[in-house]
Amino acid sequence: MGQYISGFSKLSKAEKIRWLEKNYFHNNTEYNKILESYWNPDKKRQQLHDEFIENTLSNFYMPFAVAPNFLINGKFYTVPMVIEESSVVAAAGNAAKFWAKRGGFNTQIISTKKTGQVHFTYRGDKKVLFDFFEKIKPKLLDSVVQFSERMQQRGGGVTAVELVDKTALIENYYQLDCAFETADAMGANFINSCLEQFAQTLKAEAEKEGPLDSLEVVMSILSNYIPDCLAQAEVRCKISELGFDGMDGTEFAEKFVLAVTIAQREVSRAVTHNKGVMNGIDAVVLATGNDFRAVEAGVHAYAARTGKYTGLTQARIDGDEFVFTLEIPLALGTVGGLTALHPLVKVALTILENPDARQLMQITAAVGLAQNFAAVRSLITTGIQKGHMKMHLTNILNQLNATEEEKTIAKAHFGRCKISHKAVHEFIQSLRK
Ligand code: MEV
Repeated sequence: MGQYISGFSKLSKAEKIRWLEKNYFHNNTEYNKILESYWNPDKKRQQLHDEFIENTLSNFYMPFAVAPNFLINGKFYTVPMVIEESSVVAAAGNAAKFWAKRGGFNTQIISTKKTGQVHFTYRGDKKVLFDFFEKIKPKLLDSVVQFSERMQQRGGGVTAVELVDKTALIENYYQLDCAFETADAMGANFINSCLEQFAQTLKAEAEKEGPLDSLEVVMSILSNYIPDCLAQAEVRCKISELGFDGMDGTEFAEKFVLAVTIAQREVSRAVTHNKGVMNGIDAVVLATGNDFRAVEAGVHAYAARTGKYTGLTQARIDGDEFVFTLEIPLALGTVGGLTALHPLVKVALTILENPDARQLMQITAAVGLAQNFAAVRSLITTGIQKGHMKMHLTNILNQLNATEEEKTIAKAHFGRCKISHKAVHEFIQSLRK
């Protein structure tokens, strides 16, 4: 039975698990054992993981894999990916290999601006507020030197602070809209510290001026909407190099362009199309210790920036060439946060040869494009289930507790015929008879 408890976070890990055992596991200690079986035998390492968040009970494993053969701007990368969906890494590796033979991925950074806002209200003459803002702007900037000095040394800092009239949206609502460069850091702490300081300085200065004492800060926070922090990835090849699964190059290219155009124009398809892009993006973002929730929120807002949600990739036929591109907002860091703490993130960044943030943005964009290419290629040719179920077969066999021998026989058998849960179940039953 669900229970209210106060002071849960103060209990020891063992006490927390016992509380769950009593209240949710019906006194069945099997669940305790499962939680414990995922503890790291190295106590220091376990403590590191325990301390990432509150109330840690165990570790939740996700596969850490690599997709090799990503040729990006003339250099080969092996890309670490953390994801549970069976076909994603295989598809990425496959698309990487395909494009490595056709010139690889060309990527670039379009922009790296991040923003954050101090949201506040003010009930008075607008001109007084705007004059006041111009007067105190140097003080606002001075007040964050304590945070921005180190960032400036690394090539970042506060690049703009503007007062924005938002009263058309909500009565008396204004913003300090601030822009930042955060070099190799994702920059959330830096941005939020600056914003909270801007808010304090703004309020303190306003209190000194009689007509401005109605100014009230509502909140100060970075924005995960980053339409000016963009990476672009592109692949192109001669249409004649594209034939696939019985289709000639022209037929393939035209069908591919049509599929991408459907995602551009039709929301049901656009969302799933973008989910396919994010299969690759999220896997790299996770492996490199970045904030996938921030990336997801920003990417989908970007996909809807015109007021209509659209597919993130573009495909076109340009003379005798097929061109496929992705432009995607990515706030990624290679220093600070989890990148400095999680041992597997260090491994991932080492495999990527310690990229800076701009390089990581480009690698990630290339993987997103590769993933989308693989998905759309399957969709317009064999259908998605063939490859998906091939990869998923092992999961089904594991669910059925198949032995290694049964797995080998089943894999040989299902290499020749259609895979479904029912078919695999029946096949294993027949073997066991
Ligand atoms: C499945 O994880 C992703 C796809 O649905 C993407 C797509 O439809 O483009 C295959």
